[in-house]
Amino acid sequence: MKTNTFLGRDFLSEVDYTREEIDTILDVAQDLKRRRAIGEAHNHILPGKTLFMIFYNQSLRTRNSFEAGMTQLGGHAHYLDPSKIYTPALEGQEKAYATERVSDVARTLSRMGDAIAIRCYGDPVGWTYGGAHAMMREFARWADIPVINMECDKYHPCQGLADILTVKEKFGSFKGVKFVMSWAYSPSIEKPRAVPQSAILYATMMGMEVTLAHPKGMELDDEVLAQCQAYSAKYGGSFKVEYDFDQALKGAHVVYPKSWTAVPTFAPPIGTRDDKKSEAIFAANKDWICNADRMKLADRDAIYMHCLPCDRGFEVTNDVIDGPQSVVFDQAENRLHVQKAVMSLIMR
Ligand code: CP
Repeated sequence: MKTNTFLGRDFLSEVDYTREEIDTILDVAQDLKRRRAIGEAHNHILPGKTLFMIFYNQSLRTRNSFEAGMTQLGGHAHYLDPSKIYTPALEGQEKAYATERVSDVARTLSRMGDAIAIRCYGDPVGWTYGGAHAMMREFARWADIPVINMECDKYHPCQGLADILTVKEKFGSFKGVKFVMSWAYSPSIEKPRAVPQSAILYATMMGMEVTLAHPKGMELDDEVLAQCQAYSAKYGGSFKVEYDFDQALKGAHVVYPKSWTAVPTFAPPIGTRDDKKSEAIFAANKDWICNADRMKLADRDAIYMHCLPCDRGFEVTNDVIDGPQSVVFDQAENRLHVQKAVMSLIMR
């Protein structure tokens, strides 16, 4: 009898999993975190298993947490640089002896290992919104082993898991927690939308009181916003969009300000591939920085969150990110525990 309903499944987006399943992943993550804290070996969970990791974009936390996680579970994580293999490409985007069709890469790696993890957003898909996520779905269509999203242009489901685990640890539960996901200024206009979209999806799925704050021009995916409304109706929280940073922060328990790209940077039909327009929107909103005065607008016991890396002096001041309300390194550590939970559940 198959008792683990996770076994063999892909982990491409939180929307593919039920609230109960996400609760199970969090439970397993907390158990693995406890075992590591007391030095209890758990390398019997994935012995001899291999995770292939394909990174089209840079990473510190994601690469190292997956790699360390596989070692701790008894397996091995193998790093693949798309420019050093034949770059996996979709049909119609192939170049002779430089690329290899995604369907062929997926089937080849399926014969050798136990899961494929992919990070892809932005330039590698010409800023075509959803293009990277579609490529991951194509990998999943052809692979006989689970495919894990390590951040695409729509979702960062592993970061979102780490975020809600951190909130659960700090507040004990999600009920009544006011969660504010806000845009913040950065000198780079090229950050994807995946982190804020996953953050608000998970927060509404957990039934928190959720506010999304951003200047005009930084709108997120309508489909994601509609899903957040549906989750908040189903799970008893609330969801609203606010265009005033200070107003949004009033009474917040979770303050999560980070930058993401403006709509014009995307290729049509979402945007116009006009970086000058995006730069103008960014320049007009340089005052969207999280500083000590802004933190005073939030609840006295509020926590400051950021997925990292952050642009210090632009998204946040040093005194806030290095101060007592900051939980950014708990978030970073929790990447390890939640990903180990996901891998333990889907790969065994
Ligand atoms: N938060 C996050 O995904 O970090 P990296 O880009 O370093 O992987």
